[in-house]
Amino acid sequence: MKYMTGNEIRKAYLEFFKRKRHLQLHSFSLIPENDPSLLLIGAGMAPLKPYFTGKLVPPSPRVTTSQKCIRTGDIDNVGRTARHHTFFEMLGNFSFGDYFKKEAISWAWEFLTEVLELDTDKLYVTVYPDDTEAYGYWHTVIGLPEERIFKCEDNFWEIGEGPCGPDSEIFYDLGPERGCGKPECTVGCDCDRYLEIWNLVFSQYNRTAEGKYEPLAKKNIDTGAGLERLASVIQQKESNFETDLIFPIIEEVITLCHGDYTDPQQKVAMKVIADHIRAITVMISDGILPSNEGRGYVLRRVLRRAVRFGRLLGIRQLFLSGLVDTVLAIMGEEYPELREHEALIKKVINTEEKQFSETLVQGMELLDSLLAKAGTAKTLSGQEVFKLYDTYGFPVELTEEIAAEQGVTIDMNGFAAAMKEQQERARAARADVAAKVLTPDTTSLDRQTLQYAEGVTTATIVMLGKDGQEAEAVHDGETITVILDRTPFHAEGGGQLGDTGVLTAHGGKAVVTDTKALPNGIIYMIAGVMEGSLKKGETVTVAVDTERHAALARNHTATHLLHTALRQVLGNHVNQAGSLVTPDHLRFDFTHFSPVTAAELREAEQLVNREILKNTPVTVTEMNREEAKQKGATALFGEKYGDVVRVVSIGDFSCELCGGSHVKSTAEVGTFRIISESGTGTGVRRIEAITGAAALSKAQAEAQILAQAAAVLKVKPESLVTKLTQLAEELKITEREVQRLKKDAAAAAVDRLAATTQHYGSVAVSAAVAPADDMDGLRTFADLLLDKQGGGVVLLGMVHDGKVNFVCKVAKADTKKGLHAGKIIKAAAQAAGGNGGGRPDMAQAGGKEPEKLEAALRAGCEVVTQLLS
Ligand code: ALA
Repeated sequence: MKYMTGNEIRKAYLEFFKRKRHLQLHSFSLIPENDPSLLLIGAGMAPLKPYFTGKLVPPSPRVTTSQKCIRTGDIDNVGRTARHHTFFEMLGNFSFGDYFKKEAISWAWEFLTEVLELDTDKLYVTVYPDDTEAYGYWHTVIGLPEERIFKCEDNFWEIGEGPCGPDSEIFYDLGPERGCGKPECTVGCDCDRYLEIWNLVFSQYNRTAEGKYEPLAKKNIDTGAGLERLASVIQQKESNFETDLIFPIIEEVITLCHGDYTDPQQKVAMKVIADHIRAITVMISDGILPSNEGRGYVLRRVLRRAVRFGRLLGIRQLFLSGLVDTVLAIMGEEYPELREHEALIKKVINTEEKQFSETLVQGMELLDSLLAKAGTAKTLSGQEVFKLYDTYGFPVELTEEIAAEQGVTIDMNGFAAAMKEQQERARAARADVAAKVLTPDTTSLDRQTLQYAEGVTTATIVMLGKDGQEAEAVHDGETITVILDRTPFHAEGGGQLGDTGVLTAHGGKAVVTDTKALPNGIIYMIAGVMEGSLKKGETVTVAVDTERHAALARNHTATHLLHTALRQVLGNHVNQAGSLVTPDHLRFDFTHFSPVTAAELREAEQLVNREILKNTPVTVTEMNREEAKQKGATALFGEKYGDVVRVVSIGDFSCELCGGSHVKSTAEVGTFRIISESGTGTGVRRIEAITGAAALSKAQAEAQILAQAAAVLKVKPESLVTKLTQLAEELKITEREVQRLKKDAAAAAVDRLAATTQHYGSVAVSAAVAPADDMDGLRTFADLLLDKQGGGVVLLGMVHDGKVNFVCKVAKADTKKGLHAGKIIKAAAQAAGGNGGGRPDMAQAGGKEPEKLEAALRAGCEVVTQLLS
């Protein structure tokens, strides 16, 4: 066995199968396409399911890949065993009705023993008990002795719906020193001694959504070899984590935390972080963003778990995105998409880590106290766990894991109930906003015969609905749903609002307020009957509000132009994250991590307008998905499209999969104006814009404001800025002057007050009414006056809002003579119908009788006399 790097092993595998006439395909995205049974791709065969079942024709009957895989089922074991990961690479060779068991077995053996040069004495295999064919090949063709072939009941492989079948697994004996030492330890034991390195699946059944196993027309081969495991064998490492595919990340973590890899607890934390950062990097590069559901939640959970393990290692700063460079250095060559999205990956990680770190400490404190209180019950309530989730961003699985470390369980049912309650509150809130108009059951209709038909002016009513029930006729005042045999009304979809218009029948009229499509594609109109009745089967005149439709089309085409413009200005990380197209404006949400600057917005706006002026034709073509992909059409992350897709192209500038309405050529958009830019959540920005007449009206309204402003300042509009700059400068000078005058006036006032100062023995005492406007001013006067008279006592009063206010100050040195501001002010305040007190050197108080101000000041002076005697 010779040493090979992880990258060399991957290459050797793919090259080997290419020599066996396999077509090498690049790893598919982690986001499954058209497969609701899977959240994430977790095996090499998962993205190839339609080729196995015969639904799609494969590009070649033999394929080989190195597939990015995520499996989180065993996340708790990551770092604790030698071989569990959330992310790993699966090497696979696949036959779609081409070769079968014999070749799969011989080639696997040839690769392991001749290319990787593994010691044949250390290899073992398992087969499904009934599979005498596979057994026979291993025994007679390969020559493996019977004692190295094991029959196992659980050698049957499946993942969600789709192809599955009996399998044969190949194990490598790492030696007794890696074993559990139990006498019964053998292939299949849970310990680390016998490592499964390759699984050959003879997929000959299709598992249906109902759980039935139907034989496939053609027999297939699906194999999977874990790259990290092969590397651990060849590089003779204790675990996958010490191989060159992962260890450089661990070394980076050791440097960061000055840690010790030989300490068992630290070692687990380091392995967890190294594993998780690989998963995080790959998930984000495939377009997954942290969120509270689905794939986004898997990412969030893994990322937050990594942060917590970082804190356990004593890393206080944001550290995760700093590990991305190492991940890219290891994997960037095989998966160029990682490098392409480098900036996005780092930004998403940083934002999420920052957000979680801000609440992690508080959340941990709360959790610690809850765990301490859990006492003998040893359970955390669902409400408490929900609070940690909702307020502190603790994924419930993380709370569960931390609790389990202290032997405490969590009430998952209670958590689910709290979660449901919140969702119902949210749903109720939404329902209030949009009361739904129900449609009748449409299963009797033939979807194929009901078409969208642009421009038609008459149509036949195929179905009428009222309150979700089918109706033969509908009448004045009723809210109804209408299905026509052909309709020029475009349904709401892809962010674009539905069309509106009028239906006129022989004996009645209905106003269409919205158009929608049912999940099966049937288009229906929501309408209010305004006059008479409409009947099923009758012919009606249909009139779409064409002006509104044109405005929708303008804004939709402009949305596509904006999408491309933003990618050109900001970078390829920009992806659509949401969109709304109304007749009045468009709203476009996209991934980007900092506010878009004014200059960038201007540039994007100009780019769009340039394309509008070019008057490029907008073409709409239906084609199959593969063709669309080759044309480089932009599809939305995670959106589902059928096999035939609709591609909207604007010259070479834009090409997107889209079902919406568009103008015929760009000049129809008229003009394009961005009116706002804002943030809507982590890493998502929102731009709102207008086109056509709306953009023109806005420009006119702005021009009018400018003209009015210019008239007020008596200048031409083009001189406004110069004039305003000059006025702002003058205002600044005037303000400075006012401040100076105020200061002078205050100094003069203090001088006047100082003139009233009397001397009680050696103590200077002033008691006067000060020209202050508020308490701040009164205090300032007291300070200045005390300063001026060089110590002693100052008692000042003022009348404000029909009330009296007092401030009294005594110089620190004079408080030693028994003088006390609190006592002095108390007498003064009481004399003016109030009360108060304070410290020996400073006090403030108020009274309700302004007319007694003078008497109050005298009362204060009397106290001064008493205190000094
Ligand atoms: N699909 C098989 C596995 O993932 C090869 O183990």
